[in-house]
Amino acid sequence: MERRDFLGTLSAPVLAACAVCMGACSKSGDSSTTAPTGVNFSIDLNGSLTTVGSSLAQSGVMVVRLAAGNSAGSFTAVQQACTHEGVAINYDAQGTRFVCNAHGSVFNTSGAVTTGPAPRALKQYSVSVTGTTLTITG
Ligand code: FES
Repeated sequence: MERRDFLGTLSAPVLAACAVCMGACSKSGDSSTTAPTGVNFSIDLNGSLTTVGSSLAQSGVMVVRLAAGNSAGSFTAVQQACTHEGVAINYDAQGTRFVCNAHGSVFNTSGAVTTGPAPRALKQYSVSVTGTTLTITG
C-alpha cells in the first residue's frame, strides 16, 4: 500500500489527533522547563538526607543536604527540571553543584546558572526545619 493510499484510509479525527501529537512532540523549551508551584512537602530527617551530599527528588524538586546539622542552612531545594529543555538535573556532591547531563549546564547550589546553555536559574524553594522535619515550600 502506498503512503498516500494509507493516509486516505484514516479518518479525520485520527489525522487531527496525529497532528496534535506531532506538534507537542516537536516543541523544545516549553512548559517542561517550568518549575513546580504550590510545593509543600516534608521530609523526616531521621531516615533521609542523613549524610552531607545526599539528595532526593520529590514533587519535581531536588533537595540536597549541604552541611551537617538540622538547620535550614544545611539544605537547598531547587526545581528538578533543567531550564534548557527540561531534563532532570543531578547533584554533584564533589563539585557542590547541580549538573544537567543532557547538554552540560551547571548550576550552583542556589540554582544560578554557572555554565549554559541553560537560559535561566533553577527556581529555589524555601526550606525550614522543625526538630527533625525538613519542610520545602514555594
Ligand atoms: S536540558 Fe539541561 S542542558 Fe539541555
